[in-house]
Amino acid sequence: MNVASPPAALEPALGDLSPEAFLEDYWQQRPRVIREALPPRSTFSGAPGFTSPLAPEELAGLALEEGVESRLILKEGGAYPWELRHGPFAEDDFRALPEKNWTLLVQAVDQLVPAVGRLLEHFRFLPRWRLDDVMVSYAPEGGGVGAHLDHYDVFLVQGKGQRRWRFSRAPVENEEIVPGLDVRILADFEPDEEVVLEAGDLLYLPPRVAHHGISESEDCMTYSVGLRAPSHAEILAGYARACAEQLTEEDRFADPALDAPPEHVGEISPEAREQVRRVVKRAAADDGAIDRWLGRHATRPPAGEPLLPPGEPPDANEMAAAIRDGQGLRPAPGARLAFFENEDGSATLFAGGEPYDLPPERAFAAALLSDRRRLPPGALAPHLDEDGFPALLARLVADGALELFAPGPEEPP
Ligand code: SIN
Ligand code: CO
Repeated sequence: MNVASPPAALEPALGDLSPEAFLEDYWQQRPRVIREALPPRSTFSGAPGFTSPLAPEELAGLALEEGVESRLILKEGGAYPWELRHGPFAEDDFRALPEKNWTLLVQAVDQLVPAVGRLLEHFRFLPRWRLDDVMVSYAPEGGGVGAHLDHYDVFLVQGKGQRRWRFSRAPVENEEIVPGLDVRILADFEPDEEVVLEAGDLLYLPPRVAHHGISESEDCMTYSVGLRAPSHAEILAGYARACAEQLTEEDRFADPALDAPPEHVGEISPEAREQVRRVVKRAAADDGAIDRWLGRHATRPPAGEPLLPPGEPPDANEMAAAIRDGQGLRPAPGARLAFFENEDGSATLFAGGEPYDLPPERAFAAALLSDRRRLPPGALAPHLDEDGFPALLARLVADGALELFAPGPEEPP
């Protein structure tokens, strides 16, 4: 594909471990503690030492907002042990909290705070579509969500303060849950390892590894970079739904060839069974439709919120002028981008769950647009004379997938 090489990546969040060694020895296999996983001169703030991009008060501020998914879990001091409360919260809710033993969790903070979104740039050693969101937690001493397991890989980055993690070495096969609680807590948690993480350290856990993190400081903040792993049930149900949407009421079982009464009225005939099998197999044999469903699914905005197209989107000429004027492009809130290349050299770009078919001469745009979180004008300008490229950008902006932005002084060129 005629694509400029990918942008220089930020340092992987792996400390001294190389991405190759991590993928070979730990990824999807076993837990790994990485000290100083994030570069000491943090890309979060540019300040020396690792600095959390958010303060506890700022996280609490997000949890007051409508449309932000937030939870409070009170291990003690609530109406009953392990009480779960859902946001949005009011300031008084926070004032009434006990001193210890609770935690606040806010989902998808990468979408809300650009500096947290930037954290994902340290995970470029994994395909972007597999990264889900960054959940941020705050806990005073003793706070945590209890011993549990997640069904997907997670990188738990310590942002501030200290957290003691206890975790098992291997995935749990059959978990037992404490009955009757608001949260899913393992009844039979037996940790193999114990470690206290400091700001900048990270704990990687493969799916289903039991873990329990307890705050050891009054300012404990943890950034959970969660992976996405669609369940087979989700894949089959989702693809079947997409197939069904293409069909009409006329696409229906029919048996005009039935020319004699059945011998047994209770029998489902071989012909009837074959007809139904054909319907199912036709859908299952359509590789192109399956790939397309995956692209749409992988880039669908989280929580099904539709993208918000701008009021007055620029046309292709205005788009080119804005970029020549120094504006860049970035995914609009909630928009994910991904692509695949087709055998004939064309590419399909997916943005916000919608496919954009790019002929071979414009296929370069697929990787260009989906490889980086922000596209500075310098990355776009060299292509503005290519046929259809400004129009594609204008369409992506009009559909609410990309938005123009004015790069700040720290923006890479
Ligand atoms: C937390 O940040 O307290 C919980 C993260 C997790 O255990 O998955
Ligand atoms: Co977890």
